[in-house]
Amino acid sequence: MGPVKCLKTVPAQVHAHQSFHANDVSDAPVLPGPKNILIGAKEDASKSLKDLLEISKQILTENDRGGYTIPAKGLYPYQWNWDSALVALGWATLNEGRAWEELEKLFSAQWEDGLVPHIVFHQPSPTYFPGPEIWGSVQQPMGSTGITQPPVAAITVRNLYETAVNKDLALQKAKELFPMILAWHRWFQSARDPEGTGLVATLHPWESGMDNSPAWDDALHNVPVDQIPPYVRQDLGHVDSAMRPKKDEYDRYLTLLYRFRAVNYDCKQLYFLSPFRVTDLCTNSVLYRANLDLRWLAVELGQGENVKEIDGWIEKARDAFDTLYDAEEGLYKCKDQLTGKLVAAKTSAGFLPLFARVASASQAADLARTLERWLNRVKHSIPSCDPEAPNFEPLRYWRGPVWAIINWMITDGLRAYGFEDLACRIEADTYELLLSHGISEYYNPVTGAAAGGKLFSWTAAMCLAWLSKG
Ligand code: DGY
Repeated sequence: MGPVKCLKTVPAQVHAHQSFHANDVSDAPVLPGPKNILIGAKEDASKSLKDLLEISKQILTENDRGGYTIPAKGLYPYQWNWDSALVALGWATLNEGRAWEELEKLFSAQWEDGLVPHIVFHQPSPTYFPGPEIWGSVQQPMGSTGITQPPVAAITVRNLYETAVNKDLALQKAKELFPMILAWHRWFQSARDPEGTGLVATLHPWESGMDNSPAWDDALHNVPVDQIPPYVRQDLGHVDSAMRPKKDEYDRYLTLLYRFRAVNYDCKQLYFLSPFRVTDLCTNSVLYRANLDLRWLAVELGQGENVKEIDGWIEKARDAFDTLYDAEEGLYKCKDQLTGKLVAAKTSAGFLPLFARVASASQAADLARTLERWLNRVKHSIPSCDPEAPNFEPLRYWRGPVWAIINWMITDGLRAYGFEDLACRIEADTYELLLSHGISEYYNPVTGAAAGGKLFSWTAAMCLAWLSKG
């Protein structure tokens, strides 16, 4: 992870709503008020950074439910898969043992077939829909969903292992987690690429983590809405409906859920029966990078007998990624596997092949140019969709807002390809955004306003693990 290296003038205001209270997120001790600082002018900058880090630490501590971290109180009261793997990076800066525990807790819910669920329902909670009673999966005693999420875990394990102060603990934990992660990556190959295309399928928008991305509009529209039991959404009790997916999308999310539940989430059937099947750039980029890191771990941990198998996945995916590249647009595109067409929507997932290291040097240069064009249209980087597109909605979840975790991934990728200035610009922008608007789920790229869930764990983790370095 790259350090904040870029000197920049920013308003050093820790947003008033970002102040923290254990029981009530809106009523909290107030941190130092607005003033101007120069990031890089050591004294003031470090003070503001200190405030931000203290809040981030408090957020993780308050969202800790005993070995796992909820993304945000009320809105997301369980353990989410990729949230946890990213949050572990934040924990590692505070307590390495706790970081390993986060992953262990996630993998304690792994299914026999290798799937690691997208949500684990460790304890009951009345504040979320659809909870364990709707999912009704029986594969895990503690209850879980029957779908997965972008497989970040191997990336985190390598990161924790390489940066560990406690090397003995790291070796022990990495060795314990390795076979479980390998089993999950094998599951991706068999359950989500049974036809051997090199790229894995995503069968539910929730699996992509980018639920209402415009990349899914057409594919989701083709899902017929079944007669499903009436339901009451809980998310709208926590967050303004202008920031969330619409009812029409929820009807289809639930249709898919009930269809999957009807076959007891049997992964052998789901690939062929799901009326939604896409090639998601986020999942495939994360998986590609995770396979590179898993390979590295295999060598490091004396598991060399697995290298050939992992190399096979990497090679096949490398060639297949090229079929997703739109040279005219200078951007990768997701694909609807059921129509066979590349999706027209231009989303920030299109830059994630940089994080994967799967783009060629010339593709990377095109991507950097496209990204600069996007950034010149908005105040805050990186919008989750092309800000010039007619369906750009700066406040609505994955249809426009800025996400710190995506900024981290793209910045990491840009650096790897030598685009240091652009990486620096995004890093400084992200820092400024969090400093000015607090630690939220996502942000309006036009105004910078915080949106979605407040006191959000993975944004706090990005503060601790990424933006504080340097
Ligand atoms: C939600 O409930 O909004 C989540 O994104 C599903 O994973």
